[in-house]
This record gives sequence, structure tokens and C-alpha cells, in this order.
Amino acid sequence: MSATPIDLLIRNARVVACGDANCGVSPPGFVAIAGGKIAAVGVGEPAHTGTVREEVDAEGALLTPGLIDCHTHLVYAGNRAREFEMRLEGASYEAIARAGGGIVSTVRQTRDADPDTLFAESALRLQSLMRHGVTTVEIKSGYGLSLESELKSLRVARALGERFPIGVRTTLLAAHALPPEFSGRPDDYIDEVVQHILPEAARLGLADAVDAFCETIGFTPAQTRRVFDAARAHGLPVKLHAEQLSNQHGAALAAEFGALSADHLEHLDEAGAFAMARAGSVAVLLPGAYYFLRDTTLPPIELLRRHGVAMAVSTDCNPGTSPTTHLPLMLNMACTLFRLTPAEALLGVTRHAARALGLQATHGTIEIGKAADLCLWNIDQPAALAYEIGAGALRARFKNGVQHPPQ
Ligand code: NIG
Ligand code: FE
Repeated sequence: MSATPIDLLIRNARVVACGDANCGVSPPGFVAIAGGKIAAVGVGEPAHTGTVREEVDAEGALLTPGLIDCHTHLVYAGNRAREFEMRLEGASYEAIARAGGGIVSTVRQTRDADPDTLFAESALRLQSLMRHGVTTVEIKSGYGLSLESELKSLRVARALGERFPIGVRTTLLAAHALPPEFSGRPDDYIDEVVQHILPEAARLGLADAVDAFCETIGFTPAQTRRVFDAARAHGLPVKLHAEQLSNQHGAALAAEFGALSADHLEHLDEAGAFAMARAGSVAVLLPGAYYFLRDTTLPPIELLRRHGVAMAVSTDCNPGTSPTTHLPLMLNMACTLFRLTPAEALLGVTRHAARALGLQATHGTIEIGKAADLCLWNIDQPAALAYEIGAGALRARFKNGVQHPPQ
């Protein structure tokens, strides 16, 4: 190691760099941080001759990359606890949506909320994610569904990233549901999305990516394609809610546009997996939604493995299908329900989640030159992160090399 001043030296850590498929653990060693980035990683004690501003003794704890939650809808107002009861009484998610509940009921509450209220409600969820070790989160709009309300949600998402020590990537999901004022006129709403909402979000720099809900209760592949064409015209990468409730061949469509990811994928077929592999699109698995909707169709994990599609795991934090901020619990569910290995699950919230956000060059692994986003855990092996249900084993969390007490 050179004599560059080190801002923070984490010593005596067992590093899980997430650079290899097995999530191997290094013997006790150190990570040195300078200027918010990882400056050195090694086994044993560092041979450093320069200044070290601060030291942390990890006492043998496991050090992983900070967790990345690459698919959330966490900016919304209100809740849908009553719909939860209705579903327990037998109503289906689709039936509730068709009867004017579902996404549209959160749209009403989100439109009515002033930006401060929306910020305050969303901040509680963001703080909870941070307590679970999340250092980067993707936040989608999609509960505004008008120019004004979509921009309001994206601005709140950006503001959250400025107020809290967490990286926020925003995604415009204006094509999430049909707003009531466009009832029966989905193509007119798509006109509004591609001619006004998307260009304005792009012009203001409020969206890092564009997403859509390609589904019988969402938008058709033809409508999704129009949204993707507009995203491309504005230089924005795309993602897609695909094959969640039925096979619309959305994953293949997303792959055609070089999508960062296709998400959910319970009904994905071989052609879709093949297309994703060829495009390098990540499969984002959302076991919270699968569980909460009591779904019975498993995403085709073996197919994804066979085609070499990288798999990410995320909370899908939203009021309708996955009201959770517990990303480590999603690791457990990804293993228990979807039969991922604990190593696959961990890669799914680190290396592969970074890729699902286009951040693979700077985030997701412990490597020299990457952002010093790190988590120290009171566990003895990587599998324990997925194994311990809701244990809260986080010992310390670092964002850009700075340790923040739980907020
Ligand atoms: O990811 N599938 C569409 N969107 C969300 C659900 C949104 C809602 O019900 O409020 C999802 O599952
Ligand atoms: Fe979602």
C-alpha cells in the first residue's frame, strides 16, 4: 500500500467481496478507504506508512458490499391494509384492481399528498431499508400517473437521496396503470406518457431509467414498445415489470431494447430467458410479491441458470403486493421459496443488483476503485444472512466510506 492518506481503515474483517460466484470469504484482513472509494483490500494487517484518519476494528465480523435494493416503489402515500383483508376474504389482486382498487387507490392518495407529507411517509421506509444494510436503492414513480404527480414523486425520491446517506436511482414508471381520467383510452394515456411525462422527466434529469407494467391489467406489449421507443429517443435505459401474472413476452421485448433488467418473471418462457441472456438483462426476482399474492407459479430459476441470466433479488417495496423494507428477509424467501442458493441470493443484492441499475462499474463488489459502500454483519458465514429470518445482524453500515449510526 502506498502512502496516500487513508480516511478509514477497517481492520480484522472477513471480506466477502462478491466478486466470485461462491461469495468466498477471505481470511481476516483490511479494507482501506480514501475519498469515499476503496483504496486497498488485503489479508492480514496493512503495510501502510501514511496517515490513517480513522480505524474500525471489525473483530472478525463479515464485511460485504452495501446492499442494493434495485426495485422499489417506496414513494407513495397511505396504505392498502383494507385490500389485504379483502384478499384474505377471497378477492383476487386482479379483481380488486378491476374494481377501482389496487394501484389506482394508492394513486388517489399519492396525488392528494403534498410533497412534504409524501417525503415524510417515504422517509420512514427508506430509513428502515438503511437499517437493513441498504446503501443504494432504486425508487420508481408510478403512483402519480399525471405529469405533475409523477414529477412530484421523482422529486421526492431525489430529495430523499440528498437528505439521507443512501444512493437513490430513480425510474419513471408512468406506464404503471391507467389513471381514471383516461378510463377506456389507454392509447391516449400512452400518448401523454411519451409526448409529455417522459420528455419532461428526462429534460429535468429526474429519471435515471424508464419502466412499464406489461400485463393484462397493465399495458400491452405494443403500448410498452411505444414507451421504450420514447425512452430510447431520450437516451434513457429501460426495465420492465414482465411476466408477473401472465406471459406477455415482455422480457423478450425488454431485451430487444437492451433492458437493464426484466423483473418478476414468474411466467417467463425459454425464448424470454434466451433473449435476456443475449441482451445481458438481469432477472430481478421479487419473492415478497410472490409470497404476499400467494402466487403459485414459481419464476423459472433453473431456466435462468441454464441460460446464464444474472439474478438479482429485491423487496419490490410497495403498498399493494410487497409491503416490506426487509431486504435480508427477501434473501431468505429467495432461497426458501425460489430455491436460490444463499450465495446466489447475496449476489442478487450486491453485484447483480448493481448491474440491474447499470452501476456495475462503481458498485456491488468490494474492489479497488469502487464506492466504499460496505456493511459489517454479526454473522460467521455469508449463508447466515439468508438463513437468520429477520435477525437484524447489521453491525455497521458505510456509505461512501462514512459510517452512519442507524437513523
Ligand atoms: O411490482 N406489478 C405492478 N406493480 C407493483 C404493484 C403495485 C401495487 O399494487 O401498488 C408490483 O408488484
Ligand atoms: Fe414492482
